[in-house]
Parts: sequence; C-alpha cells; structure tokens
Amino acid sequence: MKTRVAVLISGRGSNMAALIEAARDPEFPGEIALVISNRADAAGLDLARRAGVEAIGVPSRDFGQNREAHERAVDALLLQHRVELVCLAGYMRLLSPWFVDRWGGRLLNIHPSLLPAYKGLDTHARVLAAGEREHGCTVHLVTTAMDEGPILAQARVTVLPGDNEAALAARVLAQEHRLYPAALAQYIRDKALPDGQPPR
Ligand code: GRF
Repeated sequence: MKTRVAVLISGRGSNMAALIEAARDPEFPGEIALVISNRADAAGLDLARRAGVEAIGVPSRDFGQNREAHERAVDALLLQHRVELVCLAGYMRLLSPWFVDRWGGRLLNIHPSLLPAYKGLDTHARVLAAGEREHGCTVHLVTTAMDEGPILAQARVTVLPGDNEAALAARVLAQEHRLYPAALAQYIRDKALPDGQPPR
C-alpha cells in the first residue's frame, strides 16, 4: 500500500505537479491523495484537478486572525482523506505549533535556497545581491521555526555570470521538481511509515 500524501499549496503548484507526476510511477511509495490550498484562486488547484487529484480550497481569509481554526479545518480534511504525510509546496502561510506538533515527522517542505542560508522570501534576488556563486534548494522536515528543521536533501545550482533573478529561479525550480519527489520517496522508504495511520 502506498503512503497517502497531501500537498499544501498557495499558488501555481509546479512542485505539486512534479509530485503528482512522480507518484504516477507504480514504484513510487506514495500517492498524492489530496491537494489543499489556503487560497481559493490558486492556479495549482485546477492543475491538480486536471491531473485527477482531489483539490480543495480552504481560504485562510475566511478565518480572519484565527490561524488555528483554519488549520483545524485543514486537519479535518487530512484526516477525512486518511492522509499520512503532508508536503508543503509553496504554502505561504506559517503553521502554528499545534499543527506542526500534530504532524511532526510527517510534514515536509521545499525551500529555494541551500538552508540554513537564505531563509525567508526573495532568496534568488538575495543570493544574486550577495554575489554568491552557488545556490540551490532544500527539502526539510518542518519544525515550528520557519525554514528550519532537519534537512532531508539538497540540490546545488551554480550561479552563472550575467544571471538575473528569473533565470536563476528557473534553474533552481527545475532542480526543485527533481529533488522533492526523490526526497519524498526516500523519506517514505526510510521511515517505513505505517499504512493508514492517523497523525499523533
Ligand atoms: C518554490 O520555489 C518553493 O521552493 C517555494 O515556493 C515556490 C513554489 O512554487 N517554497 P510552486 O507553487 O511549486 O510552483
């Protein structure tokens, strides 16, 4: 039995699409059972539906300042769909300690930098501004501090002379699409997560 994975997105969902595509392989140890977006207009929702994956918008703005109420709604959907592992993929909302604890060890994220360098936003522009020669992306387990938590995998990208933000971002993104499915598959295999197990 494949591990049931949900992908949480906020926008275009290209990493989500890469995960869905990779999971079509019969040898892939996970299946993308559900996509949730905290924005109803996320392009990734349609992309998921066209790929035959159930995709639900749970707009965070409907919950105002009540972060935990939004997360409880997300959590309820995850349980309903018997999700065992959650991948954040461009999910632009900080998760509360409640959610992170609940899904601890079952919550992965991809970040477009070689963590611990360049946490936060606008990583490509900041890397260029600093004159770095190397950049990349990281898949890590999520803990309560943003863009921290044990690193599962990284891919390196050389910064080229004359690079601009768009060109560098595109090369990093291509690596993200390769790295995330590989890191997810490896994590599922290593952890040997039990089938059908709800979160702690
Ligand atoms: C990616 O660069 C990811 O690393 C970052 O947000 C971006 C999401 O892009 N966390 P997409 O929605 O997967 O296309």
